[in-house]
Amino acid sequence: MLTTEFPGCRELIDAIDAAVEHDTTPAITDSLRNSLCKLIRGGHVQLPSCVFETAAGRYARRELYRSEEHGYCVVAMTWGPGQGTPIHDHSGMWCVEGVWSGALEVTQYERVQNESERYRFLPVGAIQAGPGSAGSLIPPHEYHTIRNPSDDTVAVSLHIYAGNMTRCAIFQPLPEHDWYLRHERQLGLDPVH
Ligand SMILES: [Fe+2]
Repeated sequence: MLTTEFPGCRELIDAIDAAVEHDTTPAITDSLRNSLCKLIRGGHVQLPSCVFETAAGRYARRELYRSEEHGYCVVAMTWGPGQGTPIHDHSGMWCVEGVWSGALEVTQYERVQNESERYRFLPVGAIQAGPGSAGSLIPPHEYHTIRNPSDDTVAVSLHIYAGNMTRCAIFQPLPEHDWYLRHERQLGLDPVH
């Protein structure tokens, strides 16, 4: 189900459909990463202009496509200067995230301890990702933050999730160093036009 037609949408969907036919999660995400990088650099796909519009005080999420056959979802995210996420998970789903324009800082965390809703995380690496680069997350290594570190440039990223991610867990810092409190968050969608 395509939310709106855009140039190259068929090429994008065909590439994802081919990738998700692989047998294992690492094979699927490897294939998706390669395809996504090629598609972004190839220039045939032009995302709808609304994905370049930021939302006030938060990043914007717009669902572009949901596969009835395979269950995956394609969501474009728009990051104003300085906008980002708290540490969050992906509800146990694999995900491939590619930078479409601008740049994003992605920091991965490992869960080293938890006591009911209190979690201890340690950062295990950060990357600056530019246009045409893509990364993947495979649970249980799914905890991360994303941030647009720029002072003046909007960043756009494309996220392909194994399923329809309507909620996830976010982790808010506690006064004790490296400890966070888990909250469930319902994820909203911005309109595509
Ligand atoms: Fe994420």
